[in-house]
Amino acid sequence: MIIKIYNAYIIDPFTGTEGIADILIENGIISRLILKPSALNLQHEKKPSALNFQHDIIEIDARELYVFPGLIDMHTHLREPGYEYKETIRTGTLAAVKGGFTSVCCMANTNPVNDNPEVTYYILAKAKEEGSCDVYPVGAITKRLKGEELSEMAMLRQAGCIAFSDDGMPVMNAMIMRRALEYSKAVDAPIISHCEDLFLSENGAMNEGKLSFYMGLKGIPKAAEEVMVARDIILCKHFRSPLHIAHVSTKGSVELIKRAKQEGVPVTAETCPHYFTLTEEAVRDYNTNAKVNPPLRTEQDIEAIKEALIEGVIDVIATDHAPHSLDDKNTPFQEAANGISGLETALALSLKLVHNKVLTLRQLIEKFTLNPSKILKINKSGIKEKAEADLIVVDINREWTVKKDEFASMGKNTPFEGWKLKGKVLMTVKGKKVFKMWQEDK
Ligand code: DOR
Repeated sequence: MIIKIYNAYIIDPFTGTEGIADILIENGIISRLILKPSALNLQHEKKPSALNFQHDIIEIDARELYVFPGLIDMHTHLREPGYEYKETIRTGTLAAVKGGFTSVCCMANTNPVNDNPEVTYYILAKAKEEGSCDVYPVGAITKRLKGEELSEMAMLRQAGCIAFSDDGMPVMNAMIMRRALEYSKAVDAPIISHCEDLFLSENGAMNEGKLSFYMGLKGIPKAAEEVMVARDIILCKHFRSPLHIAHVSTKGSVELIKRAKQEGVPVTAETCPHYFTLTEEAVRDYNTNAKVNPPLRTEQDIEAIKEALIEGVIDVIATDHAPHSLDDKNTPFQEAANGISGLETALALSLKLVHNKVLTLRQLIEKFTLNPSKILKINKSGIKEKAEADLIVVDINREWTVKKDEFASMGKNTPFEGWKLKGKVLMTVKGKKVFKMWQEDK
């Protein structure tokens, strides 16, 4: 297979490359990368056909298109083993490449939990056999996610886990979290903390406030997240072990993380597209597809999260792709499963920040590539000659409408159904695997 991409605008935070280039990919390897001195020269060049797809050659006129390194999602639920009725490694990684992700980190809340090397090996073997992209397992901090006894972190690390998290559940016991931080430092893989005080959030189904009162639902106060962010930052400060805060949803959490970073505490943080595009209003009609944990918050929180993205207080945008079956969501609101199927909408939702001039395109791409790779120490060579092709071709202006039935993911649980978004991945190349998403009439 030969892929020729002409006149693409490359933004590659790994190599620092930014500019117009032609890229030649042969059998999964970038064999030529020719950077053009100036866009002006291109006016005179012969325009190749927009699309030539024959004899194992793909030619793309990428004028006005962008090429980025394949995105990294450091927070994905692939559900396998155990919940194959929600998602499988095959369908989840297909959803990933469709959304522009060539690397996903899969959370440990499977069945059995990824708290022992057998499960890690199983995930890696399945991913090798059936996966469309790189899969990096995240090991559980505690056995069966019970928060009571540490998992065999060293063995999990050796088996291939790149981080540790009980995501979906917090580690309530501060002593256990302390030990987890110490061990994680010893095995050189960060802790990803799901910050939630279960006593404060107990039986809550949405953000606590006037709306939850009006809807007759028990709320989850922002404090449920923030007290745990504060606790974990204090532990991180004392034991100086890298800590990553998952799915930040409140202004208060942002303020705590900002102060900690100013003090030199080795903490990093992520948020997810739904926390800067939706408020609690999305659940007003008891829409279970907008039920997520932590819950959607308020305008004030969205503004703080955007500011944190600009300032670098939040390092990463992750999807928290949490696919669920129809039965899991078609229930009374209080009983519905938490989560949003996010891999296929994340980039376009996040591009809103660029279209609305909140972030530059480069800043955005850093949050999807370089920053997660640094936190997780995933070695990526970027877009350069002799490297494996791990890149995406994106039309950041192409408009499309979210249709859950067109998702590759088995999880159709999206609150964005029918939204008109701007920004579409046209092609994902991961080594010899090529996924072409454009329409032939382009
Ligand atoms: O909404 C969520 N869904 N939040 C989590 O922390 C877990 C996730 C899941 O596993 O469904």
